[in-house]
Formats: sequence, structure tokens, C-alpha cells
Amino acid sequence: MFNKHLIPNTQSLLEGQALNIKVEEYDFLVTKQQGQIIAYENNCPHQNKPLNDEYDMPLDAEGDYLKCHHHGALFSPQDGSCITGPCQGSHLKKAIVGMEQGNCYLLFA
Ligand code: FES
Repeated sequence: MFNKHLIPNTQSLLEGQALNIKVEEYDFLVTKQQGQIIAYENNCPHQNKPLNDEYDMPLDAEGDYLKCHHHGALFSPQDGSCITGPCQGSHLKKAIVGMEQGNCYLLFA
């Protein structure tokens, strides 16, 4: 059985932007890539810490990669793979995104 949580304002999320959504004890990163909403657990595989904190966005300066602010790991927003940094080759854990009546939802156990 999955919990379902509405991802607010996905229609206004611009291509390449990312936002942070906290649901109870869960923490997710949501991004729009090639028109598709993609979500990852906000947990860096290097030291199991959130990529960002409340003061910064989990993106590099150009907005091309998800970035962990602790030690600078960069992740592909398309598949969550770490392309450079101390956890190169590992992946962010993808979260399930569902669509219903034009709204996007995070689905998690
Ligand atoms: S905790 Fe993310 S790069 Fe070290």
C-alpha cells in the first residue's frame, strides 16, 4: 500500500528547476526534465545526508545538475547518477511519481 502525496504547483515548475518536498519524515527532490516530473529521495549516497538545506537549492550554478552542498557531488537530473564527486558511479534513489487528473503525486511506502 502506497501513501499518495500531491506535488504542489508542478504546472509552474520550470524545465530544469528543482524543489524540495518534505512529507512527514520523508524528504524528496522533484525536478522537471524534458517535460517530465522526476523525483528522488533527498539523500546523498556519499554520507546519507540531504543534498541541500533549507537555504539553498540542490542545483549547480548553471542548473544543469543536482548538487550536494556537503562535498560537491553532481548528479544527473535525468537518472540520478553521480557523475563527479566522492560517490561517483552511485545513484540517488528514484521515487515513484504518479499522475491523476492532471496532478502529480509522490507515491511512497
Ligand atoms: S554527503 Fe553528499 S557529497 Fe558528501
